[in-house]
Amino acid sequence: MRILFAYPGAERLADMLANHSRCERGALNLHRFPDGESLIQIQSDIKSHEIAILCSLDRPDDKAVPLMFFAQTAKEFGAKSVTLIAPYLGYMRQDKRFHEGEAVTSAIFASFLSENFDSLITVDPHLHRYKNLNELYTIPTKTVHASGAIADWIGENIKNPVLIGPDEESDQWVSKVAQKAEAPYAVLQKTRRGDTQVEISVPEIDKYKDHTPVLVDDIISTARTMIETVKRLKRAGMNPPVCIGVHALFAGDAFEALKQSGAGRVVSCNTVAHETNAIDVSGLLAAAWKG
Ligand code: R5P
Repeated sequence: MRILFAYPGAERLADMLANHSRCERGALNLHRFPDGESLIQIQSDIKSHEIAILCSLDRPDDKAVPLMFFAQTAKEFGAKSVTLIAPYLGYMRQDKRFHEGEAVTSAIFASFLSENFDSLITVDPHLHRYKNLNELYTIPTKTVHASGAIADWIGENIKNPVLIGPDEESDQWVSKVAQKAEAPYAVLQKTRRGDTQVEISVPEIDKYKDHTPVLVDDIISTARTMIETVKRLKRAGMNPPVCIGVHALFAGDAFEALKQSGAGRVVSCNTVAHETNAIDVSGLLAAAWKG
């Protein structure tokens, strides 16, 4: 039998996933002591069962240690296999040493998860310098793509869309979504000068003035990429853009700032719980876990 556990906060998506895959839901208690240490208690019988824990790895530092306790305890209690379902996989953007002395956290984090789990399932990880997760992870991995679900949402909700990728890296998602949505697309150029300083250049898009621009990116973190793109499109005389992010991280005031920048609707997949979640990936995750 397969049993799915939810890391605290992931219960809603776990229930949806369990409905799709007809697995059992496991009971788990995570206690935080006043001094900041944590204790995991697995309350279901897992002996000889294939189990998974659903835990999105946004804000990963707080979750990493309890996840390690979970995986190691599950093995002590005889779980046949322990899968991590991380709809958002953190630490993928530091994929090289940009400055002397820096840690390449994508590789270190991948070793940590590979040591503790038997397999990993995720949604559209940020692959830039790495071509796939096997270059990083030593355990079997499965990547779920949200492009079909995003294209369906655009088809059902947006009239006459033109898809816009804010930077070269977004080409991989935007081109797929555009193809599936049968819509034209353009990819802009981004220069990042710091965590919250971003410059965007807009190519010739005059022919799309009567379209609805739909920005598509994998991650919305500070939202500066989206905000600068919205502003540039506004200056170019385009309609208010719809902003779609696969992973709605929204650090600090990012969501408010994006709403105030002149963006139209802001939408995300439910890989990270947020009020913008409108595109459901639970069925795709369930299918990936089934094998
Ligand atoms: C980076 O290359 C990613 O694809 C996103 O464009 C980036 O992470 C967005 O970050 P922010 O919201 O902080 O501009």
